Amino acid sequence: HKHLIDITEYSADDIMTILETAKTFKQVNERRIKKVPTLKGFTVVNMFNEPSTRTRSSFEIAEKRLSADSLNFGGSSTATVKGESLVDTVKTLCSYKIDCIVVRDRWAGVPRKIADVSGVSVIDAGDGKHQHPTQALLDLYSIWEEKGSFDNLHVGVVGDISHSRVCGSLIPALKIMGCEVTVIAPPTLLPARPDILGADHVTSNLDEALPELDVVYMLRIQRERFEGAPYPNLREYNLLYGLTEERDRLLKPDACVCHPGPINRGVELDSFMADHPKRSIILDQVYAGVLVRMAALYLLLGGSNDGIDA
Ligand code: CP
Repeated sequence: HKHLIDITEYSADDIMTILETAKTFKQVNERRIKKVPTLKGFTVVNMFNEPSTRTRSSFEIAEKRLSADSLNFGGSSTATVKGESLVDTVKTLCSYKIDCIVVRDRWAGVPRKIADVSGVSVIDAGDGKHQHPTQALLDLYSIWEEKGSFDNLHVGVVGDISHSRVCGSLIPALKIMGCEVTVIAPPTLLPARPDILGADHVTSNLDEALPELDVVYMLRIQRERFEGAPYPNLREYNLLYGLTEERDRLLKPDACVCHPGPINRGVELDSFMADHPKRSIILDQVYAGVLVRMAALYLLLGGSNDGIDA
């Protein structure tokens, strides 16, 4: 693959190669000196036109640990505020002989547009309500590490489905790996045609669904994407769809809890669950972000394997 834009272009074998490579990079990350020369001489532009904590910082750390040169660029500090178009901006950056653009943007389709006009590798770091493929990969990595395999796994994806680019990549990725997927959401936070999600089951009853799940994946309510639509009452949402201490008794003994971050504590996830020492793998997901982004950059750019053969 040249780009990582649409997770549905990746097969189960492609995804396993990324996860196995990420596991190799875990050994690198646990050495005293965490840096390898594999992408020495490559230049990666991180173009973040929307806020980010995890994705942006983990891409930058991944690039540094692979010895790539990074340029952090985007948002209101660029000439786009003077009216420069996306295409002219990308062509300007490509004049520097860069190798890869990692892009986050509020508009769906921007990564594909950049791939069409730039000629360099493009990684989608989240586009509008569309996809977030490296998030899906880090989620798969964390679930694989926690559970040992994807066989016979039932994953519930809970919450604000209609505004979520995370589930735009995660649900197809879980299906590619052979998991059973149940989507759980209030009817107002589901798309008009829930069948387009590709899940096995769709329900609005969290309490009925929870006892069946091996992995409970909680989504954030995306306040910034409601665009004038009625916003839920957060107390009521927490009562009906929040993963609270009271709901712990409904979970399988070995069920684990995921969240892509940032968390709305007390809304979709109570601190009891977010910080639960046995159930929560949320900080493992954050760490996996560095590992899978190192793997994706290495595989897409074709770096040398100097120093990574554990
Ligand atoms: N999960 C995620 O994409 O988080 P950030 O918005 O902080 O990058």
